[in-house]
Amino acid sequence: MKKLLLTLTLALITTAVQAQDISALTAETKKAVLPVIPKVVTAMQEAVAEKGVAGAIAVCKEEAPALINQKRQETGWEIRRVSLKTRNGERATPDLWEARQLADFNIRAASGEKPENIEKSEIVTIAGQTVFRYMKALPVADTCLKCHGPSEGLDAALKVKLSESYPHDQATGYSKGQIRGALTVKRSL
Ligand code: HEC
Repeated sequence: MKKLLLTLTLALITTAVQAQDISALTAETKKAVLPVIPKVVTAMQEAVAEKGVAGAIAVCKEEAPALINQKRQETGWEIRRVSLKTRNGERATPDLWEARQLADFNIRAASGEKPENIEKSEIVTIAGQTVFRYMKALPVADTCLKCHGPSEGLDAALKVKLSESYPHDQATGYSKGQIRGALTVKRSL
């Protein structure tokens, strides 16, 4: 009985410590990584204003990943964008954990949670290694619809460019407020 109580107490303490760890890790991760989101959005908006939607494709293809890459180098963490309906499947296909969270994000949004507030943090074990994982939903705003909205409403020149660069594009047909994908971070602990 004593042994059981001790085990239970230890388990509770471990859970409490982990909860504390998770909130500190989440805060630190968000502070370091989230500023990249408005940077990417601004870069895209400027590109659309300067070059039109079709001309902005190159920016989305090169500049957005470059900004994210810069963050990876600054922090040493794995950072990328993922989606259940990818445009660039080579870069953005989610792993199993990410796919589960993305499905859950959609359920949470459908249950009334504000998409811009949806995020998930967890400490997981991958191949014996402890890893902190963080994911933040990227909701569809008006500007996103120009390139991710329903196919029939997209600019004709843009469609040509998209089919050239992304023959397997699944990332159209979205409406405002839906979750387009997520920013995802992996940190070895
Ligand atoms: C000018 C067109 C354009 C606009 C506007 C645009 N995107 Fe994209 N988006 C793209 C292209 C092109 C890619 C593929 C980038 C690559 O090759 O990695 C992409 C990829 C993504 C990805 C990575 C996952 C995937 O499917 O490959 C996410 C997430 C994303 N966009 C979200 C958004 C959001 C959110 C907005 C609005 C704030 C937005 N996009 C606006 C063109 C656009």
